[in-house]
Amino acid sequence: MGVWDHVLAAALLTFCAALPFSAADPNDERCLTHLSDSLQDPLKNLQNWTKVTFSNPCQGFTSYLQGATCNNGRIYKLSLSNMDLKGTISPYLSNCTNLQALDLSSNALTGPIPPELQYLVNLAVLNFSSNHLSGPIPQQLALCAYLNVIDLHDNQLSGAIPQQLGLLVRLSVFDVSNNKLSGPIPTTLGNRSGNLPRFNASSYEGNKDLYGYPLPPMKSKGLSILAIVGIGLGSGFLSLVLSFTAVCIWLRVTEQKVENEEGKISQLMPDY
Ligand SMILES: *[C@@H]1O[C@H](CO)[C@@H](O)[C@H](O)[C@H]1NC(C)=O
Ligand SMILES: *[C@@H]1O[C@H](CO)[C@@H](O)[C@H](O)[C@H]1NC(C)=O
Ligand SMILES: *[C@@H]1O[C@H](CO)[C@@H](O)[C@H](O)[C@H]1NC(C)=O
Ligand SMILES: *[C@@H]1O[C@H](CO)[C@@H](O)[C@H](O)[C@H]1NC(C)=O
Ligand SMILES: *[C@@H]1O[C@H](CO)[C@@H](O)[C@H](O)[C@H]1NC(C)=O
Repeated sequence: MGVWDHVLAAALLTFCAALPFSAADPNDERCLTHLSDSLQDPLKNLQNWTKVTFSNPCQGFTSYLQGATCNNGRIYKLSLSNMDLKGTISPYLSNCTNLQALDLSSNALTGPIPPELQYLVNLAVLNFSSNHLSGPIPQQLALCAYLNVIDLHDNQLSGAIPQQLGLLVRLSVFDVSNNKLSGPIPTTLGNRSGNLPRFNASSYEGNKDLYGYPLPPMKSKGLSILAIVGIGLGSGFLSLVLSFTAVCIWLRVTEQKVENEEGKISQLMPDY
């Protein structure tokens, strides 16, 4: 081997070493540390979710964390679905700034959806379905402009559906069925304009006090009151008709009696 070969080999080694061992992102580390603190994992499904791994969760495209996917050394997907997780969703999740897909569905998570998720500006998929999440749907989610999927079905979310979510032009899946939401469905989501994908009643059903298109009108509270008024008016009309009929029959009968009497009288009276 010549001198130049040695130099070249050394240069290559330095170069290659620099690439995969790039320093872990401090934001990802903070995000994972806080998320791990806020979650409970009774069945120990989260393998390698330890402080040591949080400081270096990715090597290029390889992830050392169960449920995490890496892209260029950053966490870009978290899929922790169906792992019997308890606890809450940490607001520090927003420090995983390269996150594109966040799936915490089918667990037993409680507490609110942190409005801080608005800082996940690359987020395309949000699936928190089938948990016990409560509180409002944060209107700030409208700031995650790349959102394609918002799936929040089967939780205990309350309050109104924020009108601002209608601004998410890329939204192709929106499911808030089976929660405790109330108020009118914003037209910007219930009756989307132009070529925007539309969401049918299955996205909204199972919320006792939610109303408006595309939910069927009969199920709403306002209409059952109308129905009661209708029944009242209907029966009132019916009794009116009945009493009219009775009066008519009575008049007929008296008329006939009078005619008969008159007939009798005329029969008794001699003709002049
Ligand atoms: C846990 O981390 C080690 C290296 O730190 C790795 O070899 C192993 O595959 C990881 N396990 C999982 C489930 O990712
Ligand atoms: C990390 O998250 C916390 C809580 O949401 C927030 O206060 C902080 O600004 C975030 N840091 C960065 C760098 O995004
Ligand atoms: C969200 O996750 C559930 C299962 O955990 C899955 O059935 C559902 O299809 C997901 N939603 C979307 C829009 O992919
Ligand atoms: C939906 O919007 C269209 C036009 O934007 C309108 O003509 C239609 O009446 C609306 N439907 C409902 C149920 O509000
Ligand atoms: C409603 O939309 C969902 C998904 O967007 C679809 O699977 C379902 O068939 C639709 N239902 C009706 C009645 O159109």
